[in-house]
Amino acid sequence: MKRQTNVWATLAFTALFTQMACTPTNLSKENVIPKPVSVVTTGESFDLTDQTDIYVQGESAGLLQIGQYLADKLNPSTGLAIGVKTTSEIPASGNIYLALSENDAELGDEGYELTITDKLVKVTANKPAGLFYGIQTIRQLLPSKVELATEQKGPWKIATGTIRDYPVYGYRGSMLDVARHFFGVEDVKNYIDQLATYKMNVLHLHLSDDQGWRIEIKSWPNLTAHGGKTEVGGGEGGFYTQDQYADIVKYAQDRFITIVPEIDMPGHTNAALASYPELNENGKATELYTGTEVGFSTLATKKEITYKFIDDVVRELAALTPGEYIHIGGDESHATKIEDYIPFINRVQDIVIANGKKVFGWDEIALSTLKPNTVVQYWAKAENAIKGVEQGAKVLMSPAVNAYLDMQYDSTSTYGLHWAAYIEVDKAYNWDPASLVPEIKKENIIGIEAPLWSETVSTRLEAEYLIFPRLLGYAEIGWTPAELRNWDDYKTRLASHGERMKAMNISFFPSKVVPWDTKDKK
Ligand code: ACM
Repeated sequence: MKRQTNVWATLAFTALFTQMACTPTNLSKENVIPKPVSVVTTGESFDLTDQTDIYVQGESAGLLQIGQYLADKLNPSTGLAIGVKTTSEIPASGNIYLALSENDAELGDEGYELTITDKLVKVTANKPAGLFYGIQTIRQLLPSKVELATEQKGPWKIATGTIRDYPVYGYRGSMLDVARHFFGVEDVKNYIDQLATYKMNVLHLHLSDDQGWRIEIKSWPNLTAHGGKTEVGGGEGGFYTQDQYADIVKYAQDRFITIVPEIDMPGHTNAALASYPELNENGKATELYTGTEVGFSTLATKKEITYKFIDDVVRELAALTPGEYIHIGGDESHATKIEDYIPFINRVQDIVIANGKKVFGWDEIALSTLKPNTVVQYWAKAENAIKGVEQGAKVLMSPAVNAYLDMQYDSTSTYGLHWAAYIEVDKAYNWDPASLVPEIKKENIIGIEAPLWSETVSTRLEAEYLIFPRLLGYAEIGWTPAELRNWDDYKTRLASHGERMKAMNISFFPSKVVPWDTKDKK
């Protein structure tokens, strides 16, 4: 008898536990990254069923597209055939509703409010970007298996309550170096989707360097015909045609991501110098370069043809760029005398502005006279970034010792370099852009960017080893207020994203400082 009681008790307990595990009811316990600004839980759950559709307010093509993005994420795994419809009123019970509400000042341009009852999942935002970020949160409130590409068994429940959420910084980005090793259109699109998942909104493409020129310039065709032919290690390299590049830009725009294109100059220019002899001081083309040294190349800063070249490149690039910035590089120009570097950067800023864009540059450009609206990207020297602030410039925070995705995790890392630091996942997370350098205050900072230089990685998998999981931490630094962030809380949320990243086919580095959850608890 006793024995039987135990069996029944065990069964009852198991059933209860299974029920609890399958029915999330505590919204504030959900492991959302970046951590939302505020979460209020109401203790019930909403059920996605084969009756669920996504309704968008009004007849807006933009909102339909956002609704479709969510349906496309949910349908393969849930098999629920969730449709997307327009409506002029609040939809019936069991549905998801996306609506604009233009009077919620606290939410700004990118914030959203997500209200979940047992009857309705509703996202409101001032702008479409906010709705897009609201649906990224919805994805993370569902079990990890929602990210798989094949049909899975439900149930598909979401805890009820209200999330109000908006970012600390308007610029939350990553950089991909497609010059040292070339990454094709599909790899770049894949990265854009990954960035969007974590509410990042900029992809900076490092399009030229000593080892390769990666964007077609119609008025200087040899840049890609010759200068795009190789990469670090001597591989075949590659480049984007203007049509392919425009396709990337559009793909990014549809995901509320701005592409910031970089043409690095006057150093880091061997690929151009090898393609056009007239850009060299001595009028002789250099050889293509497949090594990893830096600081040996320079455009001929005293020749007029150099400025004609830059004007042509910037004009063609500006025409392909809906975003407001063109990045002119300016880093590590060790082969350019400082008395030549300063007037060069001054003149190139004028060229960018004359072509209707604002200037971005690595922190060395603050040695010149910065034009209004120029942004300084702090990577190496705080004193340079401070010079920028003193000139009224805004700063983008990419300190190599904290934020370079190509730095190794530790001395055993398979890929990456360590000239700046080893950056374990905790170190990548544990810093605050607004208190890192006392002279650079929050109001001077436009945001954070985590660059991936590609000397040591040439495939999507290799890149992902360095990018993930650190990118999630950078996303949170850019989005979540510093006072809501701490490593002990973050590491358990990150741990639960192991299964989610696996489901998204992300090959992340399984860092030992993260207590990875091996199973999806829902
Ligand atoms: C840089 O890492 N040379 C900007």
